[in-house]
Amino acid sequence: MRKPILAGNWKMFKTVAQAQSFVEHLQQLAPNTTDVEAVLCAPATSLYALNNLLAGGTIKLAAQNLHQAEEGAYTGEVSALMLKDVGCSYVIIGHSERRQYFGETDDTVNQKVHAAFKHGLLPIICVGEDLDQRNQGITKNWVEEQVRAALANVSADDVSRVVIAYEPIWAIGTGQTATAQDAGDVCTHIRQVASEMYGKEKGDLLRIQYGGSVKPENIAELMAQPDIDGALVGGASLDPGSFAKLLQGA
Ligand code: G3P
Repeated sequence: MRKPILAGNWKMFKTVAQAQSFVEHLQQLAPNTTDVEAVLCAPATSLYALNNLLAGGTIKLAAQNLHQAEEGAYTGEVSALMLKDVGCSYVIIGHSERRQYFGETDDTVNQKVHAAFKHGLLPIICVGEDLDQRNQGITKNWVEEQVRAALANVSADDVSRVVIAYEPIWAIGTGQTATAQDAGDVCTHIRQVASEMYGKEKGDLLRIQYGGSVKPENIAELMAQPDIDGALVGGASLDPGSFAKLLQGA
């Protein structure tokens, strides 16, 4: 009932030419994938060019961040309207790197979620605990607070179109993956929280990704968990061959 969603988060990698070459290569390796929704979260500089290349295909385009304001004197920022204008379907919001290095809070995350919906962009909302929180045994409480804050005042209609990415910070780029069971348990908890907030029917529609050192070798095991509907992949999404294998594994 929930379509799996595999998103490659390229972070601050790839020039326009490199991004275009990736897409051309991927289109040969995995033409018109329909069983899994494939999403490329490219740097802002490549979005316009990629939109032209992806036109008419099944691969969706995403941005990695947006500013919550409609428009205005916010030097260096990009709005939801601008991202929609260059063909984005999704936008990552509240990635732990943005929370850690750019001062994003639960409150700004919530504002950005509203800004995204206002312009027809679907948010991929990132949540996750750090190692300290995991060792203290407060992972589920922490993640629950992040989810509740991110979804504040989001309507029941919109919530079924939200994607939540559970990314334990200690697993990002470290090669250390949460066990499938651990990751699955937290994702189950996230779905329970959404069901408490919006009712079971809506909670069941929410798509939940796992992120953190996902590779072609471990994606199938993670996806076998009942509440994991996809993955948000960093390092292993940078190579088209690896991304194509992730799509097969998902
Ligand atoms: O958003 C994806 C991410 O933070 C995970 O990165 O390199 O561990 O797959 P990576």
